[in-house]
Amino acid sequence: MAIGEATRKLFDLNGRVAVVTGGNRGLGHAIAIALAQAGAAVAIMARDEAKNREALADLRAVGGPALALKVDLMARAGLKPAMDEVERVLGPVDILVNNAAFAILKGVLDQTAEEWDQVMATNLNACFLLSQIAARSMVAGKRGGKIINVSSIAGNFGSPVFPSYAVAKGGLQQLTRCLAIELAPHNIQVNSLLPGWFSTDMTDWIRNWPEWKEGLQEMIQRTPRGRFGEPRELAGSAVFLASSASDHMTGAELVIDGGFSVR
Ligand SMILES: NC(=O)c1ccc[n+]([C@@H]2O[C@H](COP(=O)([O-])OP(=O)(O)OC[C@H]3O[C@@H](n4cnc5c(N)ncnc54)[C@H](OP(=O)(O)O)[C@@H]3O)[C@@H](O)[C@H]2O)c1
Repeated sequence: MAIGEATRKLFDLNGRVAVVTGGNRGLGHAIAIALAQAGAAVAIMARDEAKNREALADLRAVGGPALALKVDLMARAGLKPAMDEVERVLGPVDILVNNAAFAILKGVLDQTAEEWDQVMATNLNACFLLSQIAARSMVAGKRGGKIINVSSIAGNFGSPVFPSYAVAKGGLQQLTRCLAIELAPHNIQVNSLLPGWFSTDMTDWIRNWPEWKEGLQEMIQRTPRGRFGEPRELAGSAVFLASSASDHMTGAELVIDGGFSVR
């Protein structure tokens, strides 16, 4: 085999089935497209049906089998049926990307218990439940697999701006470590992807709200690369974590933040 061909095969996802939560926009969309470009059949799960349809068209334009399911990750009872539908249409799941999340910009003093619960349900509990469903299927099928938890550098720091989000992300990184140990004997690798600041709907407030103008300047100055990342700049790291190229990597955190957290 030629050297170039051997390297290409390391990242080849042909024949694999991937699920990306929140794959209809932002980082999840970029990840879903990149996995499809690497050869995977990709299913996305999110709530907005119009955006799901657009993302499905983008995935089909890449050429492989694809599926978009309307799923609200806060509705626990819908998760197993959604994963069953992916298996029915595309085949057994090899790659799960727990990407969907949202943040509430309220300190602990102002946050309601319901808001706290919603953040935990979406950003942490759904990741546990989907990982459990996917891992049970991977173990039963003896085929190994990959779970990628999209956390955040916010999981490593305290935050007075979005504490529930930061707590959920810290918990997600612990879930990654615990699953990595438990699932290693089954050849399932579990890793965290930690984005820094990227241009998506989630960061509209800091990029565009006048009251955050100074915070934006501070953030940009602190970032060695001096700008927000673009979603496509994260996608390659997800392909790496989904592929054989990362087979000896588990329980790890891959930080993609333009250098923000090393200063
Ligand atoms: N952007 C950044 O700077 C940044 C930094 C660090 C970490 N991250 C992480 O990267 C991931 C993607 O963020 P993003 O910036 O791409 O966010 P985004 O543009 O706001 O997209 C969020 C995605 O999650 C889905 N989602 C949210 N709540 C959901 C629910 N209850 N059920 C199903 N889907 C739901 C949304 O789809 P629907 O609304 O249609 O359901 C959407 O596809 C998140 O885990 C985020 O924490 C982002």
